[in-house]
Amino acid sequence: MPITPTSKIWMDGQLVDWDDAKVHILTHTLHYGNGAFEGIRAYETPKGTAIFRLTEHIHRLFDSCKILAIEIPFSFDELMDATKETVRVNGLASCYIRPLVYLGYGEMGLNPLPCPVNVSIAVWPWGVYLGEESLRTGVNMMISSWQRHDPNAMPPAAKGVGHYINSQMAKVAAVNAGYDEAILLSPQGFVSECTGENLFIVKNGVVITPPTSAGALEGITQNAVHKIAKDLGIEYRTTNLLRSDLYTADEAFLSGTAAEVVPIRSVDDRIIGDRGPITTEIQAAFFKAVRGELPQFEQWNELV
Ligand SMILES: Cc1ncc(COP(=O)(O)O)c(C=O)c1O
Repeated sequence: MPITPTSKIWMDGQLVDWDDAKVHILTHTLHYGNGAFEGIRAYETPKGTAIFRLTEHIHRLFDSCKILAIEIPFSFDELMDATKETVRVNGLASCYIRPLVYLGYGEMGLNPLPCPVNVSIAVWPWGVYLGEESLRTGVNMMISSWQRHDPNAMPPAAKGVGHYINSQMAKVAAVNAGYDEAILLSPQGFVSECTGENLFIVKNGVVITPPTSAGALEGITQNAVHKIAKDLGIEYRTTNLLRSDLYTADEAFLSGTAAEVVPIRSVDDRIIGDRGPITTEIQAAFFKAVRGELPQFEQWNELV
């Protein structure tokens, strides 16, 4: 999806003009892919622009960096404030937010420890990631021949920059084959997740999602779906799924900050169907929650 430029990008404590937010070609992360990032959204709420679950996203950024042995040269509070400030100065009522921790210029070679660590935060208006229509009609999915990372090869719990080569391979194969999105299995053959989204099925009224041990990232939207399901009195379970469980699901959907909550229409050409009643209920509650319309989830709306 194309990026619409905004005014300022936060880089290592300074707000710089969009066009000046540049790095040297010998920036370490460009060559070896180490680094971590977050994808966050801010929504318009009755009380003003609010970042959805910012605290959890910044925590995950610190956890990703800890896993990758990268020390962020800013405190948790500094990055919370910087994120809010970047949204504020760009004057956007709603937007996508991309904090990035990367290894900078000055060192080359595979030992990242001496590298300078840089942090940037960019924001821009971003529409519906899988297309406006996807929210209603659902997406067609393909199970990829690319597997999700083995935890002893690339730790799936880290939202690492280089991790997403795997997602891109799966996305390219799916798009080239005429599908909207890919589903990846774990090396053990269990359903893991999509290229940038968690996955759920609904079977006999129960919402089921794979565990992190199947290689799924612990999604913040996934956690919101869990809490929303609980609030709606819908049973929710985290357990391993086989690809055949997808084919025979009553309903299926995916969740992620970029994609939001999207019904799955088919998997490997097996039709699951139109957006089902439980998906519809959870999706509607999710969009109310992000827009600050559900008092029981008001703590998720972090005002800028
Ligand atoms: C691989 C992967 N899985 C799942 C998700 C969904 O996570 P969240 O809901 O926190 O955006 C993302 C997005 O960050 C992702 O990149």
